[in-house]
Amino acid sequence: MSIRLLAAFCLATLLASCKLMPKEKEEEKTGEDKFAGIPNRKWWKEAVVYQIYPRSFKDSDGDGVGDLKGILSKLDYIKSLGVDVVWLNPIFASPNNDNGYDISDYEGIMKEFGSMSDFDALLKGMHARGIKLVLDLVANHSSDEHNWFKQSRMSRENPYRNYYHWWPAERGKPAPRFSFFDVEGSAWKYDAATNAYYLHYFGRKQPDLNWENPAVRNEIFSMMNFWFKKGVDGFRMDVIPFISKDTSFPLLPAQYHGNFVSYYANGPHLHEYLRDMNKEALSKYDVMSVAEGIGVTPATAHDFVDADRNELQLLYHFDGVGLGYLPGQFKQMDPKGYSLVAFKDIYSRWDSTFEQKGWGTIYLGNHDQPRMLTRWGNDSPAYRVASSTMLTTFLLSMRATPYYYFGDELGMSNIRFDTISDYRDIETLNMYQKIKKEGGDLAYFLNGQKISARDNGRTPFQWDSSQNAGFTSGQPWLRVNPNYTTVNVAAEENDPHSILNYFRKMVQFRRKNPVLVYGTYQLLDRDNRAIYAYSRTLGNEQWGVVLNFTSAVQYYTPGSPFKGSDKRFVLMDNYGIEGDQPGGSITLKPYEAMIFKVVK
Ligand code: NOJ
Repeated sequence: MSIRLLAAFCLATLLASCKLMPKEKEEEKTGEDKFAGIPNRKWWKEAVVYQIYPRSFKDSDGDGVGDLKGILSKLDYIKSLGVDVVWLNPIFASPNNDNGYDISDYEGIMKEFGSMSDFDALLKGMHARGIKLVLDLVANHSSDEHNWFKQSRMSRENPYRNYYHWWPAERGKPAPRFSFFDVEGSAWKYDAATNAYYLHYFGRKQPDLNWENPAVRNEIFSMMNFWFKKGVDGFRMDVIPFISKDTSFPLLPAQYHGNFVSYYANGPHLHEYLRDMNKEALSKYDVMSVAEGIGVTPATAHDFVDADRNELQLLYHFDGVGLGYLPGQFKQMDPKGYSLVAFKDIYSRWDSTFEQKGWGTIYLGNHDQPRMLTRWGNDSPAYRVASSTMLTTFLLSMRATPYYYFGDELGMSNIRFDTISDYRDIETLNMYQKIKKEGGDLAYFLNGQKISARDNGRTPFQWDSSQNAGFTSGQPWLRVNPNYTTVNVAAEENDPHSILNYFRKMVQFRRKNPVLVYGTYQLLDRDNRAIYAYSRTLGNEQWGVVLNFTSAVQYYTPGSPFKGSDKRFVLMDNYGIEGDQPGGSITLKPYEAMIFKVVK
C-alpha cells in the first residue's frame, strides 16, 4: 500500500471510529457491515422465508393448476421481494388427496407440476438469483398409492409389510386413535385384503409410515440425500413430531385424554430418529431444517432445536395460530375475537423460550391457515392496507425467522365461500361429511369455515386484473378471489404506498439492521388491550416498536426504557411518517405501526 493510500485509509478509519463520519454516511453502511462481529450468526436466522403454495402461484400450461414452470417464470418477481429463501409446499408425485401431502414417489415430481428437468431449472434459477430453496418433507405418512403401501397391503408376509402400522383383526379392534381428516374420526382403517387395520393419523389415503422399522428410516434419509445432492437448501418437516409410535398401541395414557396431539408428538424414539436424520443427512450439508412443531411446547422445544442436540434447527409452534377459537368446536372462531393480551403473551413466551438457546420462527399465515389479513387484521377496504402493513411490521421486527406466506404481500384476504361445493380441501370436505352423518349444524359449520377454512389461504395468486387474475388461462382449480381486480401485483407494483412495496421496504430494513434480527426483545405495557409495544436492543442500539391492533386512533405514552425522551426518530412507519418527531405521547392512527429510536 502506498504511503498516500495508507494515510487515507487511516484517516477514514479514524473518522469512523471517532463517530465523525457524517450521519448519512453511517446510514449508508451496508447491512453486512453492521452484522459483523455478532456471535452465533447463521444464514437461516437472518433469512426471510417466502412460502409458495405451488398449486396456486402461476399456471404455465393452462390446466388451471400452478406449476414449476410458472414459478420459474416469476423468479424475478420473487427476487424483487428481497426474500432469501423460498419454501415450496410438496411438489412430489401424488394423487393429491391432500394436495401433495400424500406422496406416491418421493423422488418424482407431481405430473401437474411438471418434470424433474423443470425442477432442476427452477433450482438453478433460484440459486442464480441468490435465493435458497427449501422443500417439504412429508415423512410421517405416504400416499396409499406409494409402491411401499401397495406392497404392504398385499400380504402379511410382504417385505414392505412393516413399512406401515398394521393391527391384525383377530386381535380385536385396536385402541382408538383419532384421525384429523377421517369422516368417522378414526385413524384405523380396516383392510379386507389381509384382515387387518392400518393406521392413518390424517386421511385414509395417507397411511402412517412405520419409523420404528430401520428400513423406513434409511429410505427417508437416502431420499433426503437425493435432494440435497441436487442442491436443495433444506426441508420444512411436516408433522415431524409424530413419527415415532408406541407400536403396542395401548389405550391413550390417562394424562393425554383430551390432548391426543401431545401424545402423538411425544413418541418413544422421536429424538433418537431425529439425531439419526441429522447424522445421516442434515449434518452433511449447509442446509436448514424446520419442524412443523405440532404438539411442541416451550418446555419440549429445546429438545428439537438446540445446537448441542444435533437434531433440527428451527420449529414453528401452533400457539399463536390456535388463538381465538371456541373450545371443543371444530375451528369456530370466538365471536368476541381474540385477546391482544393473550396474543402478546404467546409471542413473548416463545421469544423467551429461545432467549438464551435455540432460535424461533414466526408466522401469521400459511397453507393451513386462513389469510393473515382476515384472521389477524381487518380486511375491510378502509383498513386492509394499514392492517396488512402493521402485521408485516410485526412479523419482520420480531426476534425469530419470519415465514411470510405468498399473497400476504398483496393483502390477499379470505374468499369466504358460501357453499360446500366451492371447497377442495379434504379437511373441510370430510368434516362436513362427518357433521352431516352426525346430524350436526351444517350452516353453523359453513359459516365458521368462512373465517377458518384452509382453502381461504389457497386461492390463486393475484397477478393482475385480467381474467383469473393472470394466474391461468384455463379453469382455476380453486376459485379466484373476486377482489383480484384491485388487489393484484400489477396494481400494487407502481403504487409507492402499496402493501407490496411496504413489504419490500420492511424486508430491506430488517436485512440492514441487526437489532431487528438479533436484538433482545422486551414486551412493554403488557396489559394494553389495543397496542402491542416492545423494544429491541442490541449493544447501544435500542428501538421501540409500537403497533396499533385496532381500527381506532390510540394514544400511547412510552414507558421505560423510552420514558421522558424529548424526541423520537421514526425509522419506519406504515403511514409514511419519518425522521424527528416530538417526544411524549404517540398518537397512532388505525392499525398504525411505528418503529423508532430515541434521540438523546
Ligand atoms: C400438515 C400440513 O401442513 C397439512 O397441510 C397437511 O394436511 C397435514 N400436515 C398432513 O400432511
